[in-house]
Amino acid sequence: MIALGCDHGGYSLMQVVKAHLDKRGLSYRDFGTFSSESVDYPDFAKKACEAILSGECDKGILICGTGIGMSMTANKFRGIRAAVVSDCFSAEATRSHNDANVLCMGERTVGPGLATMITDIFLDTPFSDEERHKRRIAKIED
Ligand code: RB5
Repeated sequence: MIALGCDHGGYSLMQVVKAHLDKRGLSYRDFGTFSSESVDYPDFAKKACEAILSGECDKGILICGTGIGMSMTANKFRGIRAAVVSDCFSAEATRSHNDANVLCMGERTVGPGLATMITDIFLDTPFSDEERHKRRIAKIED
C-alpha cells in the first residue's frame, strides 16, 4: 500500500501519478489534499508518514511545488527516509543505497512523463541490502 500526499502545488501532478498507479494496478491510500485550493503541505506529509510508520503503508509519494517542503517535513519522522527526486538515476540510487521509503517530487520542477518514470523506478527498485549501506542508514537514526 502506497501512502499519497500533496498540497495545492502538487495536486495536478498527483492526479497523473494516481492514474499511473491505477493503470499498474497498485494500491494506494490518498491522504489529500483533494483540490487545488491553497493548503499547508506539512499537514499532508504528516498523515502519509504516520500511515507508513503505523505499518498501514510501506512506501509514500509526496508532491508539492518543489518536493522540498514535503521532504523537510517527512524527514522529521524517525524511520522515514524521504528523498526529493527529479532524475531517474537518483530514483534508483535512493532506493538501492538509502532504502528511501518516501519519494518527494515537485510539480513545478518535474514534468508528468518524467514523474511517472521516477515513480516506476522508485517503486520497482529493491534496497541493495549491502552491509555498507545498512551501516550508513543505521547512522542516520543514531
Ligand atoms: C506552495 O506555494 C509551495 O510553497 C509548496 O508547494 C512547496 O513547494 C513547498 O516546499
